[in-house]
Amino acid sequence: MRSFVYVALLLVSLTNAAPGPAKPCVHKVKEDIPSPIGWVKGGPAPSDATIELRIALPQPNFAELERHLYEVSDPFHERYGQHLSQAEVEALVTPHPESIHTVNEWLASHGLYEDDLARSPAKDWVRVKVPVSLAEEMMDTKYYVWVNEKDGNTIIRTTKYSVPENVHGHVDLIQPTTLFSTLRGMDTTFRISEASPEAGASLATAPPINIPSASGGKVDASCNSTITITCIQQLYNAVGFKPSGKNGNHIGITGYLEQFANFEDLQSFFADQRPDALNSTFEVIPINGGLNNQTLDEAGAEANLDTQFAFGLTFPIPRTFYTTGGSPPFIPDAGTPTNSNEPYTDWLDFILNHPNPPQTISTSYADDEQTVPVSFAERVCNGFAQLGARGVSLTFSSGDGGVGDGDPNPATQQCFSNDGRNVTRFIPLFPPACPFVTAVGGTIHVPETAVDFSGGGFSNVFTRPSYQNAAVTKFLDKLPKGTYAGLFNPAGRAIPDVAAQADLFKIFLSGIPISIGGTSAAAPTFASIISLLNDARLSAGKPSLGFLNPLLYALQATSPKAFNDITVGNNPGCGTPGFNATEGWDAITGLGTPNFGVLKELVLKNFEL
Ligand SMILES: *[C@@H]1O[C@H](CO)[C@@H](O)[C@H](O)[C@H]1NC(C)=O
Ligand SMILES: *[C@@H]1O[C@H](CO)[C@@H](O)[C@H](O)[C@H]1NC(C)=O
Ligand SMILES: *[C@@H]1O[C@H](CO)[C@@H](O)[C@H](O)[C@H]1NC(C)=O
Ligand SMILES: *[C@@H]1O[C@H](CO)[C@@H](O)[C@H](O)[C@H]1NC(C)=O
Ligand SMILES: *[C@@H]1O[C@H](CO)[C@@H](O)[C@H](O)[C@H]1NC(C)=O
Repeated sequence: MRSFVYVALLLVSLTNAAPGPAKPCVHKVKEDIPSPIGWVKGGPAPSDATIELRIALPQPNFAELERHLYEVSDPFHERYGQHLSQAEVEALVTPHPESIHTVNEWLASHGLYEDDLARSPAKDWVRVKVPVSLAEEMMDTKYYVWVNEKDGNTIIRTTKYSVPENVHGHVDLIQPTTLFSTLRGMDTTFRISEASPEAGASLATAPPINIPSASGGKVDASCNSTITITCIQQLYNAVGFKPSGKNGNHIGITGYLEQFANFEDLQSFFADQRPDALNSTFEVIPINGGLNNQTLDEAGAEANLDTQFAFGLTFPIPRTFYTTGGSPPFIPDAGTPTNSNEPYTDWLDFILNHPNPPQTISTSYADDEQTVPVSFAERVCNGFAQLGARGVSLTFSSGDGGVGDGDPNPATQQCFSNDGRNVTRFIPLFPPACPFVTAVGGTIHVPETAVDFSGGGFSNVFTRPSYQNAAVTKFLDKLPKGTYAGLFNPAGRAIPDVAAQADLFKIFLSGIPISIGGTSAAAPTFASIISLLNDARLSAGKPSLGFLNPLLYALQATSPKAFNDITVGNNPGCGTPGFNATEGWDAITGLGTPNFGVLKELVLKNFEL
């Protein structure tokens, strides 16, 4: 701010002195952030390195899109299920022609014309590859190499950038500039399955565990220590349901960070847990150079977990795995590398441009919310709203750090606010913090209790959406007075919305069975239940469920219950015991885990039992 005032004064004195030949270009600061926690500033970025700038133009009609989204997603609204077409959604996020024109002029003044640009279908994003030197000139900034303290990865970024005053109101954000996020998969460290054959044999003869909400009221005793497809079907009352798979239903799983899912491991998994699905495979769509190297020992645990459970639970519903490339590290001495943004935007570009995206899509990757600039989080979240309006349900894992940052070592935990104040603060994750996605927390064991790593809490960026008001207010009212004052934002979007099993999953990796856990497991599991519900709906000639949350919260009080309420457990972090699982919604398991049988009746009978 101060430097802006200085520039303005300087300009006044210049113009007073003598009208110069060239009109000086007054820049106005767009973003100015404190030095990010966890990163060390290195030398200047090589000026000839290429970066791809993403420029977001304002979406003046977004509020209108949001209104449509809520109407078509509210089960008590007459427009429920009347999702918007791709063209209708695009029309509602298209920038004002003046914004497009002004940004075009600005780019042209730097020698960048239509042929150099790539635009999103709605023209609300412009991408352009430029050398660092030009980016610095355009935004009156200086790029540096920044080194991550934890993993040594390097990126090139700046902490402050500007645009010409006349362009300022026509641009929401430009990245990569201030984006210091570190996207990560939500799989906790996995371990080779320890279950010995003898233990398995004794469990096989143990009597089933009684769970009133489960199919037939019983769950195999082995499910208390090893989660398989059968366990999930029993626990969530989905035994015997046979999806059509031929009614246009489709499920998608996203993968990032150069991870891919291995076909051979999937067959081993099917042979073990879903023999009728043997030989069936999935479509792989690489985006932005995403890898799909089928080398057996190079598959990602995250990608294998997500695909094996989602595709095992939903067989024979058609399925797609999206492998999206682009992430740090940026290696400053590797010639002219491109330095990527956080890759959700690349995936969103692709899927928003798809005429027929899957009705259910699950993602188990996230960033600490505070490392994502607010302007960027809002725009990505708006992209998720666009998908919701088109009838797509999005699930995201809520995180594996309880209320903290997931680092088991207290010495390196970073429960410090990144806003320059450096105060202790719980660490919610983005995208689960976006109100237009369904955040999935985790449970463990039979009967189910909350798993202690289940990410939960309150966004510091997004305010609480009205669909959560009643449920979350009840939870907050029960908290002892003054609980965690200053550590969280009680007015924020509350996380998670729902939960599912999240530990002791048996999957195959590099040819061998392993036991793996994380809310990574919960998100595709919950998404699978949704995909089965969509299958039932589509077969009955009804539209897909789309954006789920208004429906999920509306179904909280049905009888019989649509969710298994989880009331035991807490999610420690940042040196605190975290929040408790309680009756009703809570900040560790949300509304609870799904009861497919009850939900199916509800979604087929227009939500009346
Ligand atoms: C399930 O396992 C947990 C943890 O080992 C144990 O406390 C619990 O008693 C077991 N439940 C049943 C029904 O055996
Ligand atoms: C899978 O393919 C193998 C080899 O062609 C065949 O023997 C087997 O019956 C197939 N299994 C299924 C479930 O289709
Ligand atoms: C996959 O990676 C391995 C090891 O890095 C390499 O040897 C192999 O050539 C790669 N395969 C493909 C298809 O890229
Ligand atoms: C923030 O505060 C903590 C605890 O007082 C301290 O250890 C850490 O170095 C501080 N970080 C920064 C970036 O000032
Ligand atoms: C969690 O429950 C324990 C035991 O009932 C209680 O002492 C504690 O205050 C509760 N914590 C929160 C954050 O509600």
